[in-house]
Amino acid sequence: MSLRARINSPEEHGSRGEDGHLVSSYRAKLLEEIDLAEMSALAAAERRARLERVLGHIISREGPVLSTVERSQLIRRVVDEALGLGILEPLLEDASITEIMVNGPDAIFVERGGRVEQLPLRFVSADQLMQTIERIVSTVNRRVDESNPMVDARLPSGERVNVIIPPLSLTGPTLTIRRFPRSYTLQELIGFGSLDEHMVFLLAGLVQAKFNIIVSGATGTGKTTLLNALSGLIPAHERIITIEDSAELQLQQTHVVRLESRPANVEGKGQVTIRDLVRNSLRMRPDRIVVGEVRGGEALDMLQAMSTGHDGSLATVHANSAEDALTRLQTLSSMSDVEVPFVALHDQINSAVEVIVQLTRFADGARRITEIAMLDSHGSEPYRLATVARFDAQPMTHDGRVFGAFQYFPLPRRTADRLYMASQPIPQAFGVAQHLDQLTTREAR
Ligand SMILES: Nc1ncnc2c1ncn2[C@@H]1O[C@H](COP(=O)(O)OP(=O)(O)OP(=O)(O)O)[C@@H](O)[C@H]1O
Ligand SMILES: [Mg+2]
Repeated sequence: MSLRARINSPEEHGSRGEDGHLVSSYRAKLLEEIDLAEMSALAAAERRARLERVLGHIISREGPVLSTVERSQLIRRVVDEALGLGILEPLLEDASITEIMVNGPDAIFVERGGRVEQLPLRFVSADQLMQTIERIVSTVNRRVDESNPMVDARLPSGERVNVIIPPLSLTGPTLTIRRFPRSYTLQELIGFGSLDEHMVFLLAGLVQAKFNIIVSGATGTGKTTLLNALSGLIPAHERIITIEDSAELQLQQTHVVRLESRPANVEGKGQVTIRDLVRNSLRMRPDRIVVGEVRGGEALDMLQAMSTGHDGSLATVHANSAEDALTRLQTLSSMSDVEVPFVALHDQINSAVEVIVQLTRFADGARRITEIAMLDSHGSEPYRLATVARFDAQPMTHDGRVFGAFQYFPLPRRTADRLYMASQPIPQAFGVAQHLDQLTTREAR
């Protein structure tokens, strides 16, 4: 097999076998000939060019006879490894990849267009993978080792990186890289079939009339993406404070304060939680508080804020259905260090949450709003959810696609009144329920 074939061959690509040794031996030679200190002073592109030039000389001097293509492929792989993230580099450059998952040296998966696939790539060894991981986390001044075996960080370029290594990971060093999600407008999301014009019309009214909205969905269903698009509907004169674990929201308004929580440092100090930020934000005269993801005791602070004058807040929560979102908020609120009786939490949610937008990721990778529900109960009544929009899916087609249609239902009187008072039109598709029995409601505990 020619070197080129071997470099390109799926089984061998990833620095295994003979050419893997070739790559590592040239990498070692290259590192012998260059002055690393001098290199670090150069810009990234220049550094690469310099390494390529030096390596070109080394290969001409002592290397095998190679075709131009083989030669440039070898140079590219050696320089990738010497410089950056080795076999991960081309994956990071590939804009169609949204997530890179490395489960030990032999299993590399990526997500493309919502689907996960395994790539025929490998690291030479767990050690080489660890070196790559160390290189990544050191760019954000973090360390990963046995005493600090989990790292969650955001790279300067926006990617979110999570590392967990043995002994916690039995699979070997495990790396998850989430590309900085690009933001989509509501128009683009309509184009994907994630929602339709009628729903956008309704959601725009709800955001502008300052309803408190919870975007709910499982991991990767598009919560942050939708939150970002919905935030775009907030009027430009309002003061918006965004609170996130890793800043992903990209609001276009000018009056935005972005807050990001901070994990504890290596000595276990300096942690600032979402909860601290939510509390602090209340003293910052916000018109709107946008919480990237509620996943702990901050739920209570957020609900209290929502029901005490900070209307129009937006947040996401990890849940599989609208009723599940309510239960989840209740559970999270009870995790707060302030002990609030269960009944009081229930009342709190009834008075704080007004809209739940449920997202679902379908088997074909499509992400859709599967329900918009209004929370139409008061005080200590059981939660009563009124469905105002729903996606009814049809059985999956042979080629694995999921089709279906959005359905609309009348708005509760209370919702219609609030829209009216805020001078927001009632979208035609929905109409207003004149009697309770015209609502499509269900109770939840
Ligand atoms: N409506 C959509 N149609 C197609 N792709 C989408 C849609 N919404 C989000 N995506 C893509 O899906 C991926 C996950 O989106 P996003 O980060 O918004 O999900 P999430 O629910 O916030 O995830 P997590 O639970 O991890 O926070 C991103 O790559 C994003 O670009
Ligand atoms: Mg998210």
